[in-house]
Amino acid sequence: MARRRQIYEGKAKILYEGPEPGTLIQYFKDDATAFNAQKRGTINGKGVLNNRISEHIFTLLGHIGVPTHFIKRLNMREQLVRQVEIVPIEVVVRNVAAGSISKRLGIEEGTPLPRTLIEYYYKDDALGDPLIAEEHIACFNWCTQDELHDMQDLAIRVNDFLCGMFAGVGIRLVDFKMEFGRLFDGDWSRIILADEISPDGCRLWDMATSEKLDKDRFRRDLGGETEAYQEVARRLGLLPEG
Ligand code: C5P
Repeated sequence: MARRRQIYEGKAKILYEGPEPGTLIQYFKDDATAFNAQKRGTINGKGVLNNRISEHIFTLLGHIGVPTHFIKRLNMREQLVRQVEIVPIEVVVRNVAAGSISKRLGIEEGTPLPRTLIEYYYKDDALGDPLIAEEHIACFNWCTQDELHDMQDLAIRVNDFLCGMFAGVGIRLVDFKMEFGRLFDGDWSRIILADEISPDGCRLWDMATSEKLDKDRFRRDLGGETEAYQEVARRLGLLPEG
């Protein structure tokens, strides 16, 4: 078989050219990084778990009318996705204070926020993905006003859905990160959800014990990363009951 052409290699995934024009294959690695790749490691089996978890979430989001790049899962570590032009903004939704907002504003971790907060970070590894305001997005034309509104609407819909979905299995969705892309159709493009949604980019706390079931186990040297990701998959019905 001819070697597939690699389009891009990121910290946790590789993108290959897909079988049809306008498609890509998204490969999930076990590599984990934190603090802008200053900390590196592997989480055994993470790629397989994230592939399944993200497939599940994107499929359910598709059912409620959220447009996504997901087409189908191909195997344990790969999924077929639509090719998009990634908007260079990471959209973070927060329900409970944790991580960088706790540090930046001195809010104790675990404090529920008075309202859901959407934040934007400029996707630039060399700069360490700095926090930006809507004003910066408009000023530097990283996306149009219409695109920003679409991303805000989708972010709120995804958050509402995921909060309910995780609450149903005893997990609090503290915060999570999304990436969006432009899907081109002739001269037109529209915004769709891209990348992945998995414990790598979410904070997921057990509602009963507050145990962390996400990448903070790696970031904070808590251990038990694989088991935590497995627990999320198990609760979502993606692994046999253990
Ligand atoms: O570090 P911070 O508190 O800003 O992260 C907020 C949320 O966004 C967390 O769930 C984290 O996993 C996610 N995130 C991410 N990729 C980044 C930055 C944050 O997935 N580059």
